[in-house]
Amino acid sequence: MGEEHTAMDAGTALNRALWDVRATRHGSTEADRFYDVDSFLTGRQTLYALERELVGDVAGKDLLHLHCHFGMDTVNWARLGARATGVDFSPVAVERARELAGRAGVDAAFVEADTQRLPASLAGRFDVVVATYGVLCWIGDLAAWMGGAAAALRPGGSLVLVDLHPAYQTVGRLDPLLVDWPYGGGAPHRETVTGTYADADLEMPAQETVQYPYSLGEIVTAAANAGLVVRHLAEHTDAEFDPRGLLPEGGDGRYRLPFGDSYLPVLYSLRAEAPSGTR
Ligand SMILES: C[S@@+](CC[C@H](N)C(=O)[O-])C[C@H]1O[C@@H](n2cnc3c(N)ncnc32)[C@H](O)[C@@H]1O
Repeated sequence: MGEEHTAMDAGTALNRALWDVRATRHGSTEADRFYDVDSFLTGRQTLYALERELVGDVAGKDLLHLHCHFGMDTVNWARLGARATGVDFSPVAVERARELAGRAGVDAAFVEADTQRLPASLAGRFDVVVATYGVLCWIGDLAAWMGGAAAALRPGGSLVLVDLHPAYQTVGRLDPLLVDWPYGGGAPHRETVTGTYADADLEMPAQETVQYPYSLGEIVTAAANAGLVVRHLAEHTDAEFDPRGLLPEGGDGRYRLPFGDSYLPVLYSLRAEAPSGTR
């Protein structure tokens, strides 16, 4: 049984049902090149240069990976030498993550919890908290998410967040261009999801979700309000992969969001520190 089953709000419960199904299906077929479990088990690195550079050397560090899904990235942080703990609210994901770590022969811990209510047992234990690619759009209570991430850090520790840029989130389709999501505001946005980014051909049931748009200003302000000191904020107009499967691949193998003669950002990256407390 999970650790965090009390008083989940309706949106979080709907989203968890979606992610339970995705956690069952993702990486379960050979056609799923996005989560290619076989190559992962033989050592494929799933982390991208962006988060690896921002997080830096993790050898010997305590690392908390929020929104870990079925554990591939968590295991990879452990392969790089971190004492890694993954958190996800999907019991299916957590069970698969534990199984995956076992199959990979890697020591990593997994905790089932809503990241808006991290258990007190995680507080003050980590040098790094990291979350990547498809994180805050699932979060109704941004202040609680940032507060939990900040509380998990030791003094001087860092939160690294790499996520879809709010400008890219507004785009529903590229050609012809459809902009159907607000830029920020945090209001709940109900949407019926029918497929998955991991494999366009995978049959998935239609499921109702509740997602939340946040502007960069809202995200940075939430980090500051949680007591974190922002050390880095970047908006990236190209990416090593396309987390939503909408963007054309350039001749250099990178993905961009065309905007007139230039590009809109597709990702942002944030690094924010917990104050060291010794001044
Ligand atoms: C798009 S995936 C994260 C991507 C991840 N980097 C990967 O590719 O494996 C989003 C994850 O967030 C988890 N999630 C969504 N809302 C959550 C919440 N409130 N608390 C904890 N986990 C949540 C989902 O179960 C899912 O595993």
